[in-house]
Amino acid sequence: MKLPKYTVLENGYIHGTWFCGRPTEKYYGSHPKSFWRRAKVIVGSDNMLHWFCGLADGGHRVDGNPDVRPDTLCVGTDLPFADNTFDSAYADPPYSPEDAKRYHLKYPPARTVLREMARVTKPGGIIGLLHEFLPVVKGSGCKLIGVIGVINGPQKRIRGFYLFRKADRLMRNVLIVCAKSGNCWIQQTTPLHPKSQRWTECQSVIGE
Ligand SMILES: C[S@@+](CC[C@H](N)C(=O)[O-])C[C@H]1O[C@@H](n2cnc3c(N)ncnc32)[C@H](O)[C@@H]1O
Repeated sequence: MKLPKYTVLENGYIHGTWFCGRPTEKYYGSHPKSFWRRAKVIVGSDNMLHWFCGLADGGHRVDGNPDVRPDTLCVGTDLPFADNTFDSAYADPPYSPEDAKRYHLKYPPARTVLREMARVTKPGGIIGLLHEFLPVVKGSGCKLIGVIGVINGPQKRIRGFYLFRKADRLMRNVLIVCAKSGNCWIQQTTPLHPKSQRWTECQSVIGE
């Protein structure tokens, strides 16, 4: 995959800063101008879940607002799909209970959104979340593989485009071996200190 400009893959971790410009659609909460074109390079697939889609195109579009003509109309955080349905997933939910009031719908907590995306994504699939904060990853069944700062323009907040990968059994076995031998689970070369944050992340990914 050729990453978009201003995006770096370093030691297995994706990071960057995207100056995207103001949204062009009038719909409340719509993507900053060049965001979605860039984001699709990373999370796009022929079989992508596109949750809280609003007016944005691409993938299997799911939303609680019938006016945006979603492929699946779904209010709340229980998706009507079986486990491991999609190759990749992306969500742009409301960021707070106040934000959710703009849609007259209940706030979907970020942690719940991440867990549900992980459930319906196939093992190894990439999951993207545009949000104001990083949700709790522990227990979600995926691991953080990157974050990109998303800026609309001056005097505007910066959001994070958080990237995750759903763990798969092969990865889990590698992680267990790496954790037991004290090796870093991304590069698998650096010894881990049992009190380091990476060690804690490793333990949480393998569920120990
Ligand atoms: C931030 S907007 C996404 C806008 C989209 N990225 C775009 O460019 O048009 C959030 C979307 O989530 C939907 N939504 C909000 N709360 C919801 C809920 N509880 N259940 C389902 N959909 C919800 C809204 O209808 C809205 O379309």
